[in-house]
Amino acid sequence: MNFKNFYVTSPIYYVNDVPHIGHAYTSIACDVAARFKRLDGFDVRFLTGTDEHGQKVEKSALSRGKTPQEFCDEISVKFSDLVKDLNLSNDDFIRTTEERHKKCAQEFWRILERNGWIYKSTYEGWYAVRDEAFYAEDELVNGKAPTGAEVEWHKEESYFFKLSAFQDKLLALYDAVPDFVQPESKRNEVLSFVRGGKDYVKGALRDLSISRTSFSWGVKVPGDEKHVMYVWLDALTNYISALGFPDENSQMIQRFWCDTTDSPVHIVGKDILRFHAVYWPAFLMAAQIPLPNKIFAHGWWTNCGQKISKSVGNVIDPYKELEWIQFFGCDAETAVDYFKYFLLREVPFGNDGDYNRKNLITRVNAELANNVGNLTQRILSMIYKNNNKKIVNISYYDDAKELFEKAYALKDQINVEMDKFAFDQALEKIIIFARACNLFVDQKAPWNLKKEHRIEEMNLVLSTIAECLRYIGIALQPFLPKLAPKILDILNIDEKHRELKHLNSDFALKAGHEINEPKGVFPRLEIKN
Ligand code: MSP
Repeated sequence: MNFKNFYVTSPIYYVNDVPHIGHAYTSIACDVAARFKRLDGFDVRFLTGTDEHGQKVEKSALSRGKTPQEFCDEISVKFSDLVKDLNLSNDDFIRTTEERHKKCAQEFWRILERNGWIYKSTYEGWYAVRDEAFYAEDELVNGKAPTGAEVEWHKEESYFFKLSAFQDKLLALYDAVPDFVQPESKRNEVLSFVRGGKDYVKGALRDLSISRTSFSWGVKVPGDEKHVMYVWLDALTNYISALGFPDENSQMIQRFWCDTTDSPVHIVGKDILRFHAVYWPAFLMAAQIPLPNKIFAHGWWTNCGQKISKSVGNVIDPYKELEWIQFFGCDAETAVDYFKYFLLREVPFGNDGDYNRKNLITRVNAELANNVGNLTQRILSMIYKNNNKKIVNISYYDDAKELFEKAYALKDQINVEMDKFAFDQALEKIIIFARACNLFVDQKAPWNLKKEHRIEEMNLVLSTIAECLRYIGIALQPFLPKLAPKILDILNIDEKHRELKHLNSDFALKAGHEINEPKGVFPRLEIKN
């Protein structure tokens, strides 16, 4: 069966901190993936939210003199606002302090327990509150977690999950579904961890401590309320609690967890891959729940070459960046699209990248303002002024054949890249096509044709490019959801004809089709005097 349902999730964000570029990045990537699938006719669900339990959040709340719940309510809103302010298309926003979630996490626990995967013992070892993660002695680097986080020694009664029993099952999974963890380099890291180094070491996975007694801000362990659930076990279940689990009649579970071929997809940062690619599938196997289709780990942003950190004070605040972009002469809506475009275009998804404002300006001006923007403006204005707003019949225009071949190929090219979450490459294909259009215009020089009174030829050139802009406008929508539709508005293409399936000659602009008055879509970013 080939189901056209698609479920994509971002991590849920810790509320111990206000949102920064790292949080924005993961959600923006999910948004574009979701919009692209919708454009391709899929029934899509995109989930994001906040991760509100755990020692880290409890500590942050107490240090500010607030109860954990008050503190969570205050910060969670900043994340849900960011989603709105970035014009992201999430269908739901889950908070782990919501009843629907707690109910799910507890039921999930009960299932693991019933299936015999949980036992009680004593945990003794290192814990990094910042990572909310346990570390073995041999994982420490200079007395700290491998992530650089401070560790504390813990000894407490704890419930354990029999992770050790899943080593072979996980390896079999990575083998059977080679693209379960993407990109490839990250998959190798996961494989190496589960194998216990390069070669297979039986018993390399240790059982996982999944409850805590030394603080209380968490979901209570069913039947033993002295314990709260380990925050990662609690948090990971958000992906199904938001679909209505454990309600057996939940249609959403059926649609978005079971009846889907190339999802669920969890998009996460590389720092939290282990939790998603090892613990989560093991938990799900233990609960006998189907596994997600893919875990995609993206890289980290640095700020002008420096690691982003609160103590250095170089954390990138998305709101400040949006303000800064507007300073160069564009409105808020345009700034949002430019910012999102830059983040996905600048760095291959999966690699680390450097955030640099100068590069943002250069890229936006070169690719959007000068390339796509210029093409849109100069061609559509000429049609509007010189051909009474009308498109002519281009079906017999032989000179445009090569260009149209490129246009017809665009859909498949983009699909191939989007299947790999290669956002930058999908955009590259569109930008290259727009360049080819500009070259065609330069070669045909319709303004000269006009001077020479070769009006029929001029109209053929202009209408050809209008038709190519239809492809560009449609394809850019997931990436530039506010700006790309403006191209389609000028072209006067109705809402029902803006999907990926319309990227072919059957839906070509017809002779006599009237366009609307062109207005600049992609302002250049420059200091105005
Ligand atoms: N709460 C957990 C996730 C639970 S999911 C069941 C968590 N939250 S987080 O707020 O710390 O991080 C969320 C995401 O932000 C992670 O995917 C992380 O990789 C990402 N980023 C944080 N800083 C980043 C950069 N500097 N660059 C890119 N992304 C980074 O982990």
